[in-house]
Amino acid sequence: MLEIHSLAKTHPGGHPLFENLSFSLAAGEYVAIMGESGVGKSTLLNLIAGLEAPDRGTIRVAGRQISGLPDEDAARLRREMLGFVFQAFHVLPHLTLLQNVRVPLLLLGRDDPGRAAAMLAAVGLGDRLDAYPRELSGGELQRVAIARALVHRPSLLLADEPPGNLDPETARDILRLLREEIRANGTTAILVTHSLQAAGSADRAFELTSAGLRPRSLAA
Ligand SMILES: Nc1ncnc2c1ncn2[C@@H]1O[C@H](COP(=O)(O)OP(=O)(O)OP(=O)(O)O)[C@@H](O)[C@H]1O
Ligand SMILES: [Mg+2]
Repeated sequence: MLEIHSLAKTHPGGHPLFENLSFSLAAGEYVAIMGESGVGKSTLLNLIAGLEAPDRGTIRVAGRQISGLPDEDAARLRREMLGFVFQAFHVLPHLTLLQNVRVPLLLLGRDDPGRAAAMLAAVGLGDRLDAYPRELSGGELQRVAIARALVHRPSLLLADEPPGNLDPETARDILRLLREEIRANGTTAILVTHSLQAAGSADRAFELTSAGLRPRSLAA
């Protein structure tokens, strides 16, 4: 589902984040990526989504190389295949919660208000469908972002710190929902997190360091 080969990335003026990163995920695999702040986790997700370009190396999503695609083709691939929970939410301020969660379906010509409402209910916002993002707390916004990332049953879910702003109980519920959706839809998923508890909901965990990606035990 995801193949990354010899990836290298340095932001202009920054130090190298990865110099030769390779890994792959089979369809349906659910992994966590941990690692220090600033090590490049969000950058890695952006590269996988084709939102940033690598300096070297290749990224294939479902056999298609996303790096090097014309912008329009990359955007279509993202719409069809990807769910992305951004660290900074990116919820649209002028749309209600229900409208926000319908966006991915509308873009695919598969509008389904019932599915969108059910996803909002699943993240505990079923009674706020017509609220606007400015009326929500940070944790509630994050839940909207999660509902929106899953609503179109993406093949590949990239989630950047999804339970970051949530109390432990809500975080547990959200992780359970993520896992259920991933399993039910055969989604391949990468969860970036600083939380061992969150990482524990994945099948495997990795630690991203300046030396590369290495397996991480969840025991300690
Ligand atoms: N667009 C950019 N231009 C220049 N430098 C950038 C850019 N985006 C990120 N960086 C830098 O690259 C490094 C990696 O950033 P990134 O956001 O990938 O880290 P992260 O591992 O996700 O950290 P955190 O855990 O704090 O979210 C940081 O030093 C950051 O300042
Ligand atoms: Mg980050």
